[in-house]
Amino acid sequence: MSAVQQKKRVLTGITTSGTPHLGNYVGAIRPALERAADPSVESFLFLADYHSLINTRDPERVRRSSFEIAATWLACGLEPSVTVFYRQSDVPELLELTWILGCLTAKGLLNRAHAYKAAVDENLKDDPDGDADRGITLGLFAYPVLMAADILMFDADQVPVGRDQIQHLEITRDIAQRFNSQYGEGLFVLPEALIDESLMTLPGLDGRKMSKSYNNVIPLLQGEKPLRQAIMRIVTDSLEPGEPKNPDTSTVFALYSALADADAREAMRADLLGGLSWGESKKRLLECALEQLAEPMQRYQELCAAPDDVEDYLQKGAVRARAIAGEHLDRVRAATGIGVVSR
Ligand code: TRP
Repeated sequence: MSAVQQKKRVLTGITTSGTPHLGNYVGAIRPALERAADPSVESFLFLADYHSLINTRDPERVRRSSFEIAATWLACGLEPSVTVFYRQSDVPELLELTWILGCLTAKGLLNRAHAYKAAVDENLKDDPDGDADRGITLGLFAYPVLMAADILMFDADQVPVGRDQIQHLEITRDIAQRFNSQYGEGLFVLPEALIDESLMTLPGLDGRKMSKSYNNVIPLLQGEKPLRQAIMRIVTDSLEPGEPKNPDTSTVFALYSALADADAREAMRADLLGGLSWGESKKRLLECALEQLAEPMQRYQELCAAPDDVEDYLQKGAVRARAIAGEHLDRVRAATGIGVVSR
């Protein structure tokens, strides 16, 4: 935390390539909203639409996902007057910083980035003498530099991430350190990855981790019917009503546990051990989910009917973000000798 900055800055980006699901709610949205309500925290949340271009060539998907993610967070209670809430592409300063940081980033560091290495391994899997870089774009390779710019621009102290992103935070710190030692300490804050150990990964319909790539997600705010249909499709074992069931291996119970309070959770555990049917337990899960999601679902519908309001929040957020980014970029430009000769 820099001296002038009293509050702790927490910053999160979400790649705009999908529709938020229940796993995102439990793993990212709900904890982020709790943190944002903490008066000692200054929170930044943005739609990482430039990141989505690395994996998505479908413009409609990028647009739709940007809207759905923004509307979902707002519907779930994000307070745009408190959290600085913006779209990455509305802050062009980020791309300038990406270039400047790129000039200090060791290529070898990026060679070791997991996503790039995985793509290379895939290329060499069947043909070890083949072209290691087949189909790999500069965007994929440089992804960690854009992410570093996202984080360093706003002097983020903490970045809540999943385990798969830890390396990106290490790369960010490495870049920040190189920059500071080259151009002056204090130009960038070294961020920390914030990993919430208490957050379990939520299982999806088939019991594997809930993920859009497994096609096993439970929709979040799409309405009661899709939610019910998904819950009814959760895979269970074939124990009959009346037979004792093991809560600890049950996807239904894991999902219920993520949503219900401690008392309800223990009651459900006892009832499953006592033979509660899968049908009944799914009904309880649905009721519990609706209790928490009915209001956000309603607000989501309202936002879908008024997309200009969502755009308006993002534009206002971009103004706030750009004020901070512009000032920081001026210092970076001055430090590196870019721009105004009279400085
Ligand atoms: N790479 C992140 C992800 O896939 C998204 C992201 C982009 C991000 N920029 C960020 C997350 C900055 C945190 C901070 O989840």
